Amino acid sequence: MTRNQQAEVSEFLMTPEMSVIGKGKTFAIRTYGCQANVRDSETLSGLLKSMSFTEAEEEKDADVILFNTCAIRKNAEEHVLGEVGNLKPLKKKDPEKIFVLCGCMAQEEGIVDTLLKKYPQVDIIFGTHNLDRFPELLADFMHRRQRIVDVESIEGRITEGLPVSRTHRHKAYVNIMYGCDKFCTYCIVPYTRGKERSRKMEHILEEIREFKASGGKEVTLLGQNVNAYGKDLQMQDGFTQLLEQCALTGIDRIRFYTSHPRDYTSSTIDVMAKYDNIMNSLHLPVQSGSDEILKKMNRGYTSSRYFDLYDEIKAKIPQMTFTTDIIVGFPQETEEQFEDTLKLADYCKFDAAFTFIYSPREGTPAAAMLDNIPAEVKKERLERLNERIGMYARQKNEEYVGKTVEVLCDGISKKNDHVYAGYSADNKLVNFTANQVYAGDLVKVKITEARSYSLNGEMEEN
Ligand code: 5AD
Ligand code: SF4
Repeated sequence: MTRNQQAEVSEFLMTPEMSVIGKGKTFAIRTYGCQANVRDSETLSGLLKSMSFTEAEEEKDADVILFNTCAIRKNAEEHVLGEVGNLKPLKKKDPEKIFVLCGCMAQEEGIVDTLLKKYPQVDIIFGTHNLDRFPELLADFMHRRQRIVDVESIEGRITEGLPVSRTHRHKAYVNIMYGCDKFCTYCIVPYTRGKERSRKMEHILEEIREFKASGGKEVTLLGQNVNAYGKDLQMQDGFTQLLEQCALTGIDRIRFYTSHPRDYTSSTIDVMAKYDNIMNSLHLPVQSGSDEILKKMNRGYTSSRYFDLYDEIKAKIPQMTFTTDIIVGFPQETEEQFEDTLKLADYCKFDAAFTFIYSPREGTPAAAMLDNIPAEVKKERLERLNERIGMYARQKNEEYVGKTVEVLCDGISKKNDHVYAGYSADNKLVNFTANQVYAGDLVKVKITEARSYSLNGEMEEN
């Protein structure tokens, strides 16, 4: 697929023979990494259930164990390889068990070689482009018990109609596009997830309408760079059009993830301001506050473009909350360049930020750059940045004390049985007490206490 060429779209079909092969068998899926992987795991779970597998109560008892992996940083990969190593005794005890490794790590040649040489306990390896083929691969393995590696390096196609078993009934991830064409010099995603390709608007809207009809309240539109939606479909300002159409479905809450400052348009901001069901929280990765580093990263914008965009959004939607991603210790980053990032954090006062130490990824342009920053310096920069980010996050949260916010309840808090948890419209995690409330209820909560990355409150009973 060259640029501006549309991706091939096909419709998934489950054959009757395939739909029974999991009868009496169980599965477990472990998901690493970003929302794209979480959504892919929901499809994998949907596929397995359509094949009559049921979900195991405990991973160790499952007949089929899948690891859906992430390749974004080296430590994520090392962790997964360690966990795959831990499967060895399980396989020894029960050789009938089937281990599957899929996701972004499977798209890396070096990793596949390592798995083949050193991890014989992995039975099936398949990549990010062929989820639709998973039932066939599994059936084939069950039949022949011969190791399978099925990784496509094609630039990507789109399969519609794949079954999905969603984690929640009230909120859903909806893919709007796959892949990424931005080629930021540090990032492995364009290599593991292929070219940018957008789903047709009618398919996306149909998914949202169906979800709403089944009682769904919130959708998060997913893409590596949602602002580029529709470019491959020759749409003009496609994301703005899509966002407006999504708003018109009348679903209670719409979020989207992730944005790119380069492709963000004023018309998108106008649509966000116009519709109440587009939530006022924005994840807008900046990566660095230094123009020289942004250039080396191939981000395609300067810090002043980022400030202008931030200012424009704030001016049109004053209550907007902002989160971001930042990398420290990019090759040859100087102290001054790092301080530019601190200055940017001072200006934007993010509600939260995901901060990372640069991790060289084989095959990316940055991996070939001289990485001369000592590990202690990178660590120290990360700590200084986190301190600054944490200070603003807390200050921002303190402004909520005494105010009432609308929360979409996710259920009982993970940490405390008497407390419920959910997210406010502007994406703050809120833990709250209430007499009785159910997952999927939209409730009013009075905030009583601010913590660094969450709020505590009491539900206002009416
Ligand atoms: N090293 C460190 N962080 C990275 N990210 C992407 N690639 C790397 C890398 N090689 C971060 C970016 C991106 C987020 C998802 O992960 O900040 O926005
Ligand atoms: Fe990676 Fe950049 Fe694409 Fe984000 S926009 S997925 S950081 S290449």
